[in-house]
Amino acid sequence: MHIKTVGVLGCGLMGSGIAQVCAASGYKTIVREVDDAFLQKGLGRIKKFLDDGVTKGKVTPEARDKTLANLSGAATFEALEGCDIVIEAIIENLDEKRAAYTALEKVVSDHTIVLSNTSSLCVTELAAATKRPDRFGGLHFFNPVPIMKLVEVIRALTTSDDTYRAVFTFAQSLGKEPITAPDRPGFIVNRLLVPYLLDAVRCYENGLGTLEDLDKGMKLGCGYPMGPFTLLDFVGLDTTYYIANILFEEFREPAYAPPPLLKRMVLAGRLGRKSGQGFYKY
Ligand code: CAA
Repeated sequence: MHIKTVGVLGCGLMGSGIAQVCAASGYKTIVREVDDAFLQKGLGRIKKFLDDGVTKGKVTPEARDKTLANLSGAATFEALEGCDIVIEAIIENLDEKRAAYTALEKVVSDHTIVLSNTSSLCVTELAAATKRPDRFGGLHFFNPVPIMKLVEVIRALTTSDDTYRAVFTFAQSLGKEPITAPDRPGFIVNRLLVPYLLDAVRCYENGLGTLEDLDKGMKLGCGYPMGPFTLLDFVGLDTTYYIANILFEEFREPAYAPPPLLKRMVLAGRLGRKSGQGFYKY
């Protein structure tokens, strides 16, 4: 399949990163947001990342300008009409995603592949919400999208071999390293990462050490780029809590049960970096 134009639904933290990577890889990229204010915020985030990259000497001014030239935004679904692939990166809510797919399918052509960047929902259930369950799959990016090399390619029960192969090749064309993950909660990475993060919270609650020492232990002792509490604040405590509940609901294993402290921090609005306070203050 020849892919020239990519659509991205949602220009939040993940959507903007995905749009940036697609545009930087030479695809004409159109990102859709619900209104102009959200769109400008998302496009501004991309521009700042690219400008910072130029300042750091990681991106050439020419590459930044080429990326921005490949990128456009809209507040309508109609703008995505000519897209060969559309990557959905909106809120993790089944009803919202269903409504977005219905609106999208009114404008895209038959050959268009639709992908979700969901980190927690069942890809087969999302595929079933479309008229193209064979041309639907999961493509899960990691935060910060322009820097993290990995993407998970998830096959729904209904994803065709052709679609799977096209998505895998497309992921490689973005300069990413794709892995194939099953349509099970957490896929591969979160299935391993989330119980580790939950265990860190349990250890902290049980007095194993200070936040700083637990973080330092895993950072310097295991070479992780961030200790578990810095990472929890980075990912978002609400996001981790949400994924843990989905894992626990499906597998019913204690390792996936969210610890009481995590739940209370979410209830208190201490969501991590995005709210100004999580395990640490920002
Ligand atoms: N443009 C281009 N490159 C940039 C850049 C920019 N604006 N800003 C930074 N970079 C480059 C840096 O130059 C550096 O490159 P080199 O390694 O080649 O020197 C690299 O990106 C790292 O940047 P920094 O040195 O500024 O920052 P850092 O070393 O503190 O790393 C981090 C930051 C990449 C976030 C690192 O801490 C990390 O990997 N943390 C873990 C992140 C993680 O685990 N993410 C996954 C979360 S789970 C998830 O997303 C899935 C889910 O479903 C919840």
